Amino acid sequence: MSRTVDVYPDLATASGALADDLEARATEAVAARGRFRWVISGGSTPLPLYRLLAGRRGRRIPWESTEVFFADERCVPPHHPDSNFGSAWATLLAKVPVRRRWIHRMRGELRPASRAASDYARRLEPLPSPTGTAPPRFDLVHLGIGPDGHTASLFPNAAALTELRRAVVAVPRAGQPPYVPRLTMTVGALESSRAVAFLVSGRDKGRALRAIFGSRVRGTPNWPASLVRPVVGVRWLLDDEAAEALPDSVVRNVHP
Ligand code: 6PG
Repeated sequence: MSRTVDVYPDLATASGALADDLEARATEAVAARGRFRWVISGGSTPLPLYRLLAGRRGRRIPWESTEVFFADERCVPPHHPDSNFGSAWATLLAKVPVRRRWIHRMRGELRPASRAASDYARRLEPLPSPTGTAPPRFDLVHLGIGPDGHTASLFPNAAALTELRRAVVAVPRAGQPPYVPRLTMTVGALESSRAVAFLVSGRDKGRALRAIFGSRVRGTPNWPASLVRPVVGVRWLLDDEAAEALPDSVVRNVHP
């Protein structure tokens, strides 16, 4: 799997670079297939990107042809401060002309959570078989990582990491705050994309990055983000602080 590593002086600059990539991919996807399918990340790192896209910088995004999916969700109602949908809505989705019915939120308020997971999986097309030639489901999957190397709500050594059949599962216990059950796309679903980008900021992610970049060809469930290995490769956008801990052997493009 190929890997591109871009290092920026701060999160604002890295977010601007991801906004450029997103615009190019959205434009290309709409020209080729009539719509842009974007999977967005939860957590706090993407919020500057969402604010940027909600303003002038987002004007060239073809919002009316954009379909939005969520990589994961916390099992709370949509207006709860911990809701990934709630944050994306407040910072971006309520402010741009994306079609409301093309915003596919995970229903964190549904019980049992397994029902919300299977509901969401039904909204997605079936997972292509590992040997099949089905086209990728998404155009861009945007992810973050936690200090423990989790991505989406795939926590270290969790059962969800070995799920091969289902695209979305319920996660009874979160390994990091907020400690509420979660819903998450599985590795196979996250990999079914024409592009995968990780946006990572801050020194507290350094140890995880070092382990992820040091992990062997197949990745390891100890550091879940290392298991996301789509055939198209992965782009990492890091700020200086996150990149500090990377071994010198990791080839990177340093941007001023
Ligand atoms: C979530 C996530 C999660 C997140 C990382 C990084 O719902 O919490 O999708 O995988 O991306 O935990 O979170 P921060 O950006 O807040 O550091």
